[in-house]
Amino acid sequence: MKKTLIIGFVALLVFACKNKEEESFGKQEETSTVESASSEGMKAATPEKMGESLFNGKGNCFSCHKIDTKSIGPSVQEIAKIYKDKNQNMVSFLRGESDAIVDPTQFEVMKANFAITKAMSEEELKAIEAYFYSHLK
Ligand code: HEC
Repeated sequence: MKKTLIIGFVALLVFACKNKEEESFGKQEETSTVESASSEGMKAATPEKMGESLFNGKGNCFSCHKIDTKSIGPSVQEIAKIYKDKNQNMVSFLRGESDAIVDPTQFEVMKANFAITKAMSEEELKAIEAYFYSHLK
């Protein structure tokens, strides 16, 4: 009887430890999912996060758009401000369904990206829009 109790206790300990390990392993998994989400544009927790992943990942937007300064393209902040002020639909622009309103003279440069954005889902385009708007001052 005593022996069974001890064995039972040891088994319980081992089980408890194993559970702990799995728990922390699960947590590690979570952070690495977020990391890979930003590099591969996978789904993430909020639309803004998902938009950020797409912007820096498969969308490749970051190579021409910086957050607060103009580079090859206008800054994210400038675009967001103009879209908001004029109440324009960014999703339809990214689908190639509405005209450029920020810097039409450079539209040809932006237009080359429609191959990427047109292949994105409605959810992904809305996430990018949410990410742009999250930078409004
Ligand atoms: C090769 C450089 C380049 C890349 C990559 C790029 N853009 Fe642009 N983008 C531009 C330029 C230049 C403009 C300014 C021309 C214009 O306003 O259309 C612009 C303008 C814009 C505008 C404003 C359009 C308007 O109404 O005038 C939005 C929104 C935008 N980009 C979103 C994106 C998103 C989202 C991505 C990634 C999927 C992206 N861009 C990738 C160069 C780029």
